[in-house]
Amino acid sequence: MDKQSHIQIHETAFFTSSFRAFNEALSADKYAKLWLNPKTDAWIQEYLTEVSSEETYTHCLRNRFFLETIKDLAASKQIEVLINFGSGFSMYPFLLDESLIHIEIDKPEIVNYKASKIEEWQNEKKLPKRDLHYVGVDFSEDYKTKLLEQIQQIKGGKPCFILIEGVLFFLDKAETDGLFSFFNLIQTDGDYVGSASFQDDLKSSTAFKKLLRFLNKKVSKTSESDYLTLQDSYYKSLPDYNLIDHQDYFSLSKTYNNTIHLKPDLILNEHFYVLKKQLQS
Ligand SMILES: C[S@@+](CC[C@H](N)C(=O)[O-])C[C@H]1O[C@@H](n2cnc3c(N)ncnc32)[C@H](O)[C@@H]1O
Repeated sequence: MDKQSHIQIHETAFFTSSFRAFNEALSADKYAKLWLNPKTDAWIQEYLTEVSSEETYTHCLRNRFFLETIKDLAASKQIEVLINFGSGFSMYPFLLDESLIHIEIDKPEIVNYKASKIEEWQNEKKLPKRDLHYVGVDFSEDYKTKLLEQIQQIKGGKPCFILIEGVLFFLDKAETDGLFSFFNLIQTDGDYVGSASFQDDLKSSTAFKKLLRFLNKKVSKTSESDYLTLQDSYYKSLPDYNLIDHQDYFSLSKTYNNTIHLKPDLILNEHFYVLKKQLQS
């Protein structure tokens, strides 16, 4: 069965944006609240009670970490383009300097909906104008040739940061391998990738068991093996890339003075990686 067909828009992209809006000081995302709506709000309250009340803070810190990483690289002129794979409703374009070019890639129904809402909010002066390009693609289909052409047309030879967060958990290993080899095709020496994923030990945690129970009850029947986890070794062995930063919820909590409320077993601890393409001469 197609996993994505029963994990719907408000269970993924809307969820993530709501968590970011719940603690703006921690996420540093003052625009996430635009996506709040009563339906998602009701689901989120159940999710926080039944899965993990720490989820607000894990999502806020993920946003904060990638936002600050990208901001620093843009300020030092190391990147000029941000390409967000599975961008959902994230609001990085409006939180970053207006000189950056943005390519937002997600399923067609998501990018179309996002583009229309962004335009509406820009017309109402709720959001600033940005250099934004949307591309609708399904990573489980044959997308590479056309997408490469579209990306190269927008990006030309400019240095870029590719972001993939909150997505790999829902893909399978072949799709993930396909994406990372595609990143290598897009990028040149000195470019960056930021990736978020869970490690194998997540699946033995109480938090994951609760998540699975919640998804089975609320979304559809899935099993443990439907959700992808990756070890550090995956990132360390990617050809042409060096792992230059690795954080998780616990390390970021220290950096940003976040108080951890629950025991580790009750937290869905996501890991965050920054890779730099460095070709051997
Ligand atoms: C949990 S949301 C995360 C969104 C965003 N990256 C963020 O952190 O706010 C997951 C996103 O991945 C996208 N996604 C999942 N599977 C995909 C696929 N096969 N092709 C394209 N996009 C996909 C979903 O449409 C959704 O927008």
